[in-house]
Amino acid sequence: MKHVKTGGANPSGEEEGNLEANESPFLLGEQIFLREVRTSDVNAAYRRWLNDADVNQYLETRFVPRSIENIAAYVRDLDGKSESVFFAICLKKNGVHVGNIKVGPINWMHRFADISLFIGDKSQWRRGLGSEAISLVTRFAFDELNLNRVQAGCYSSNLGSSRAFEKCGFRREGVLRKKRFMKGAYEDELLFGLLREEWQERR
Ligand SMILES: CC(C)(COP(=O)(O)OP(=O)(O)OC[C@H]1O[C@@H](n2cnc3c(N)ncnc32)[C@H](O)[C@@H]1OP(=O)(O)O)[C@@H](O)C(=O)NCCC(=O)NCCS
Repeated sequence: MKHVKTGGANPSGEEEGNLEANESPFLLGEQIFLREVRTSDVNAAYRRWLNDADVNQYLETRFVPRSIENIAAYVRDLDGKSESVFFAICLKKNGVHVGNIKVGPINWMHRFADISLFIGDKSQWRRGLGSEAISLVTRFAFDELNLNRVQAGCYSSNLGSSRAFEKCGFRREGVLRKKRFMKGAYEDELLFGLLREEWQERR
């Protein structure tokens, strides 16, 4: 795992696993890299992801039909804001954008932030990309943003999300009973958290 400055793609593209020469990875992992989300990413595939009931079933976006225009407005709104850092998750082998991950909102006084993500391309599920993206932004949050804690909430039936956060060292800290309404019933929300000191012990 590596942190590189924006615009720091390896020009040879060899060592970094066939990274496209015109890509600009911000955080580099084994299978993926993270870069800024661009308005040019907001295309038919992105719209399909957010309107796909398998992808959005655990996301708050599901309550509103998503259009290219309202997704682009969301992306533009997050751009350059200090409350959140928003990344596109891209495959190293071909640069293809497969999902997004966000660190935010960030509480700069108490130095904690939420992490949320989705892999929109379902063919890429269960290949380790979600956990790799969480690890990359967790490291970024502690080493670069100087946060003290990262946290995430997930629906109790979202086994993929729970497992991905646990794999990255997050501890299950609590249960908010019947907090979320889904498919006609209320469901518990699980809270996960990871402290800087716990993360340092795992390094
Ligand atoms: C949740 C999500 C991000 C997980 O990403 P992913 O790339 O599929 O996850 P990983 O491949 O890194 O898997 C992490 C672990 O979870 C397990 N896992 C993944 N999906 C699972 C599922 N549906 N059921 C049970 N376990 C699952 C994996 O087997 C792996 O555990 P292991 O290494 O012990 O085998 C992805 O499924 C997704 O985007 N879902 C839709 C949006 C969403 O739910 N976002 C999270 C909101 S909190």
